[in-house]
Amino acid sequence: MGIVFGDEGKGKVVDFFTPRYDVIARFAGGCNAGHTIIFDGKKFVLRSIPSGIFSENKVNIIGNGCVIAPDLFMDEAGELERAGYSLTDRLHISRRAHLILPTHRLLDRAYEQAKGKNKVGTTGKGIGPAYSDKAARVGLRVGDILSGFDEKYKTLKAAHERILHDLHYDYDLKEVEEKWLEGVEYMRRFHLNDTEIEINRMLDGGKNVLAEGAQGTMLDIDHGTYPFVSSSSTTSGGVCTGLGVAPSRIGEVFGIFKAYSTRVGSGPFPVELFDATGDKIRKIGGEYGAVTGRNRRCGWIDLVALRYAVVINGVTQLVMMKSDVLDDFPTIKACTAYILPDGTQTTDMPYDTAGCKPVYTDIKGWQTDITGMRSEAELPAELKDYIAFIEKALGRPVKIVSVGPDREATIMR
Ligand code: GDP
Ligand code: IMO
Ligand code: MG
Repeated sequence: MGIVFGDEGKGKVVDFFTPRYDVIARFAGGCNAGHTIIFDGKKFVLRSIPSGIFSENKVNIIGNGCVIAPDLFMDEAGELERAGYSLTDRLHISRRAHLILPTHRLLDRAYEQAKGKNKVGTTGKGIGPAYSDKAARVGLRVGDILSGFDEKYKTLKAAHERILHDLHYDYDLKEVEEKWLEGVEYMRRFHLNDTEIEINRMLDGGKNVLAEGAQGTMLDIDHGTYPFVSSSSTTSGGVCTGLGVAPSRIGEVFGIFKAYSTRVGSGPFPVELFDATGDKIRKIGGEYGAVTGRNRRCGWIDLVALRYAVVINGVTQLVMMKSDVLDDFPTIKACTAYILPDGTQTTDMPYDTAGCKPVYTDIKGWQTDITGMRSEAELPAELKDYIAFIEKALGRPVKIVSVGPDREATIMR
């Protein structure tokens, strides 16, 4: 799982690990995610469909903890089918997953507009309103597609339209709604089943399941920088609730992070760089959102946030992505503590990180092109020192170092 603010490279890691697993399952989020996978000169950005879809003979599951927009799902699945990846036999969707209605997307935008400068900076995909309806026990579920759909849809849509009216939000639903309803029909061709039972049966039968996170720990509804978070449980606890597997079934927890930090949308970000160094990281790292195209905010690695994420998730192994992006920096900084607004220093994640100032340790950069390296032995000594520094601070081993976006550019240690 991603253990910072999302976009850590989860898609690449899941695709890389897929050959070792039988089942790949998304447990949280929806089309707010954008997971990039690059192999054999091809590039895909997945949003709701698990990143295991490119390997043959694997079951891919969209779990009950996810939310799904039928029209966008139809676009995404159609693109994969046109590229030669058949999905209907390999993609199973929980009947308990909730649907994102077109009016959820309108509400998302209307609420953001109403918040003005306090907006969350959401992806505008209707995630918050869909999860709110789930919690309010009025949501529409995938299982509803199979019975009583029309009535339930009309009731929920009418409730949304009343709110939109109260917010004086102008909209035109017709075209979007037509496509959405087409998407609902399209979904019927998939296995819409009780994936919770299926997944436990497969575990009982000795199959290996890889749970694919979306977003990151600092965007978790409980543990993130609330209210600047997404609306689901993005941490390892979310695997249990979002797939229906018991905590005792959880084995390795892969904590995926970048060699530096990024954040999209609003909210506190103590390590953010507003200078040329931040711009340089953004440019070299291609730090522009895979879903919204927005500039990602950039900064140095934040070991306070990472240490917290290691604990919250029970991370057993670390995966460091985009190490190559720091190839050209003479000095790299690592944030090891925060100075709180009252002047005291802490290494624990504060209740609120707004106004916190980072305390940095300087580390010598490697200033070597590592993108062609494929083994630990080739890695420059300064990069190994950087990794050792992170391992010591987090108390967990870095088992994978990613040195480029391609599936092949991955070093196991
Ligand atoms: P995800 O949401 O966690 O799956 O990550 P995204 O796909 O949103 O963002 C990660 C971006 O970094 C994508 O454009 C990837 O192709 C790219 N990427 C992944 N790993 C590496 C790496 O090691 N080096 C570089 N330069 N790019 C990488
Ligand atoms: P992946 O899976 C990065 C951010 C949004 C916003 C906040 C709430 O690709 O890592 P939402 O639309 O979920 O209500 O937005 O969360 N956000 C992400 N940032 N990566 C993601 O997903 C994100 N999904 C949501 O930018 O700040
Ligand atoms: Mg992403």
